[in-house]
Amino acid sequence: MIHIPKSEYSRRRKALMAQMVPNSIAILPAAAVAIRNRDVEHVYRQDSDFQYLSGFPEPQAVIVLMPGREHGEYVLFCRERNAERELWDGLRAGQEGAIRDFGADDAFPITDIDDILPGLIEGRDRVYSAMGSNPEFDRHLMDWINVIRSKAHLGAQPPNEFVALDHLLHDMRLYKSAAEVKVMREAARISVQAHIRAMQASRAGLHEFSLEAELDYAFRKGGAKMPAYGSIVASGRNSCILHYQQNDAVLKDGDLVLIDAGCEIDCYASDITRTWPVNGKYSPEQKAIYELVLAAQEAAFAEIAPDKHWNQAHEATVRVITAGLVKLGLLHGDVDELIAREAHKAFYMHRAGHWLGMDVHDVGEYKVDGEWRVLEVGMALTVEPGIYIAPDNQNVAKKWRGIGVRIEDDVVVTKTGCEILSHGVPKTVAEIEALMAAARTQAA
Ligand code: GLY
Ligand code: MN
Ligand code: MN
Repeated sequence: MIHIPKSEYSRRRKALMAQMVPNSIAILPAAAVAIRNRDVEHVYRQDSDFQYLSGFPEPQAVIVLMPGREHGEYVLFCRERNAERELWDGLRAGQEGAIRDFGADDAFPITDIDDILPGLIEGRDRVYSAMGSNPEFDRHLMDWINVIRSKAHLGAQPPNEFVALDHLLHDMRLYKSAAEVKVMREAARISVQAHIRAMQASRAGLHEFSLEAELDYAFRKGGAKMPAYGSIVASGRNSCILHYQQNDAVLKDGDLVLIDAGCEIDCYASDITRTWPVNGKYSPEQKAIYELVLAAQEAAFAEIAPDKHWNQAHEATVRVITAGLVKLGLLHGDVDELIAREAHKAFYMHRAGHWLGMDVHDVGEYKVDGEWRVLEVGMALTVEPGIYIAPDNQNVAKKWRGIGVRIEDDVVVTKTGCEILSHGVPKTVAEIEALMAAARTQAA
């Protein structure tokens, strides 16, 4: 399995600590186990920041980083080994494993954190934490600080600065290393296979969930633990619902089906959308809209390179889509004027993409000092223009209504432009129709 090497986690911790002020401490909790319903838990997914710095896959753990500390800069609190619990729930690293396998300089049982952590915080000027995102942990942190405050008369020094860790950490996460790109390429490769499989299986009379099952099969078979987000399998007018997840309608002859799905590998997401005809052949209207979205995506790729800013790709999609909708008679007027009053938003109501990484909508600022961010090598993003013609849109001829098309690929910025990580799913009308025709011939 392709994964992030241990050495990279160590490099990340060092890089973060190099940016922390002297005499400071960073504290990050693992994700909590989420209950689905009585006695049933959601599949555990580590918190992305925690994972980024440790690769430690267990709940009930806390990372503590103290740059320059003589007795060890990296302390991990985690669950103790426990034969009975491990018999029921699976193996635990324990403190030995935390040091041996996960690079901690020192490790303590999580049950001892209230006794030990105040002592580690005491005397440090600044505490970095993800304030506000985990109220329970924020309360714990204040409890630990209050333990120190209660000993002030004995000379204990509580920290006087509390700083959000996000700014430093999320900027690091925005730039993907070679190892990260490799993992993201693998996530995309498996998702590409999943989309091809769903395309080949597409038939009128099946349900949307039948195609979702094809995706899930390919994800798991490829080694992914789970999808990076709830798969969207939206046929017919459902394709105009941006975050449709019901996935239970019958696939109808003559309809399109839009699938937005991607798996996660070692906590790195892929995010791919394709839209194809259920019966393997686009109608003239479906084809016209599809090819317009594809042209918009091509225009966006051309605007992704170092020194271009974040919004250029989006602007390119807006121009192509607006001009195309005028040409098809779906919008009326002067293209520049229509762009100025954002007329496209009736059909294209989202942006051309987002950062992609450990979170499908990944962290990282889109603007710096009020200006769109300039792209740099290693930034990963999606490119996903779409056109959605509402089924009840009375301003357009009936033949257009209910058509929804999105095409989404994952890219990483390179020195000369961008690498498309998710290439390999057929994308032109001819490619898709050929793949689907071949699948039908084989099945017949
Ligand atoms: N799948 C979520 C998105 O495309 O942003
Ligand atoms: Mn998507
Ligand atoms: Mn996306």
